[in-house]
Amino acid sequence: MYEAKEEIKSRLAIEDVVGQYVELKRAGRNLKGHSPWGVDKTPSFMVSPEKGIWHDFSANKGGDIFTFVMEVEGITFREAMEKLAAQAGVDLTRYTGGDPQVTKRKLRAKEALELAAKYYQACLVRNKNVCEYVFYKRNLNRKTVAEFRIGYSPVSGKALIEVLKKRGFTEQELDNAGLLNRFKSDMFRDRMMVPFIDTGGNVIGFTARVIGKGEPKYLNTQETILFNKSRFVFGLFNAKEAIRQSGFVVIVEGNMDVISSHQAGVKEAVATSGTAMTEQHLKMLSRLTSDIRLAYDGDAAGVKATERAIMLAGDLGIDITVISNYHGAKDPDELIQKDPLLWQKAVKERVPAVEWLLTKYEENLNLRFAPDKKKYSDVALKLLSYVKDEVERASYEEKVARKLGVEVAILREKGDRLTQKIEEEAAKRFLKKPKTEAKPDHIKKLEDTLLALKIYGGITKTQIALDVPEDETRLDELEMIFASEQEASGGADYEKIAAELWQRYETEVNKQKIFELNAKLAEMDDDDPEYEKVLMEIRDLQNPIK
Ligand code: UTP
Ligand code: MN
Repeated sequence: MYEAKEEIKSRLAIEDVVGQYVELKRAGRNLKGHSPWGVDKTPSFMVSPEKGIWHDFSANKGGDIFTFVMEVEGITFREAMEKLAAQAGVDLTRYTGGDPQVTKRKLRAKEALELAAKYYQACLVRNKNVCEYVFYKRNLNRKTVAEFRIGYSPVSGKALIEVLKKRGFTEQELDNAGLLNRFKSDMFRDRMMVPFIDTGGNVIGFTARVIGKGEPKYLNTQETILFNKSRFVFGLFNAKEAIRQSGFVVIVEGNMDVISSHQAGVKEAVATSGTAMTEQHLKMLSRLTSDIRLAYDGDAAGVKATERAIMLAGDLGIDITVISNYHGAKDPDELIQKDPLLWQKAVKERVPAVEWLLTKYEENLNLRFAPDKKKYSDVALKLLSYVKDEVERASYEEKVARKLGVEVAILREKGDRLTQKIEEEAAKRFLKKPKTEAKPDHIKKLEDTLLALKIYGGITKTQIALDVPEDETRLDELEMIFASEQEASGGADYEKIAAELWQRYETEVNKQKIFELNAKLAEMDDDDPEYEKVLMEIRDLQNPIK
């Protein structure tokens, strides 16, 4: 992998890779631009073409082209490699050292699944009963059935296995593809087959519905080397062009809702498995558009899922709205069966998700009633704590306050108290994890500058008790931090700056330690034998003997 990484780096200029996301302007030996994450007023993002590295002074992170693509796209190192290898024209399979087996296994699984999909498609047209279900009961037309590659798995328990074995696939290969059950028979029998198709157009699994009634209603491919539920967005392959063109996406609950929606002319519809939306799903979609419309059912599960989406969206700068008017239908599919035009209209009439939730919270409460007011403010304030924008939050706070008939100030006071409680609980959870977590941002920043001064600023008087890193990229990054420090200070007295920064650093580290110990204390019982010790530690830190 190391060689592949170097080969890609040598073929791609960092300014070209970063330039796809950030508008860069020359600034001496470096290039400057606005942070792709930040709200920096002046450009705080720097690229060094010579060194092949970047540093973001507002978001306080940096690295090479790989870390950049990982961060900006929200993808794994592996995925960043694949993406950049494609841009560089590097064939990764030549480098995968111990991995060619995995690559081969994936390829075989893809081939088996592609053949399976073709086989199931062929079986559908031969079965009159199932055709009736698909074309009449579900009301799908030929074009839709072809587009989504809908098929049918025969009743016999070995039908697919026999076909694929004749084509040279081993049992192990079929198992890798997720096509076998635990008795080594066909995983899917007598079901309507809908393939899971990835954004590259490859079949990576199936969802299979009983014809008519039966349990389970849907049987899905389990996690395999190709299929990962928390990353897969159903229908995205068919929808991505429309999403790009119209600039919005509609997330529905059921896979069949997606298919119906496309047939009804709303081709921006996709589904995550049921309502279990993950951060990966949202990141993937937010790369295509920031206008995300949820069309979940209005039941308790739909409310939970919408809350989840809001929590996830807060950090991603995504605008989430809810499509809620189904004209009495239980889900989009049912509405479409009634009238496709109503669905087309519904996706245009949307409300901000926060507003929708605030209305939902009210449904079973009587807001003239004090205990209900408390309940309402509990859930509403929790929700509003995820609204990042101050102006937007303030406007909701006013709305809620009016609804409750209390002063906004009182509501905010309660909000602050709840936030504090949440933070304390988070600190407790943080301490329960024995691992040494990332340092708080401001400390990391001080540390970076101090190291930069220590290595490149020729500091001799101030003792900077920090270890010099050995990693090349990290050193290059520190050099760039030093260059920017030089620029900012106009070549001032580094000794003086270092001395001041070091003092501040020590104070901050001290504060952080006290904070962590306090949180630990809050977790302990009074009669814990360690209690006294922790207390003493805190006292020592608060009154350092100089
Ligand atoms: P629904 O039961 O709401 O699906 O489940 P639906 O689209 O309305 O089904 P039809 O119209 O009766 O055919 C929504 C989603 O939950 C998952 C599937 O992803 C489904 O699309 N699900 C549901 C399962 O995985 N297994 C099940 O047994 C049921
Ligand atoms: Mn349905």
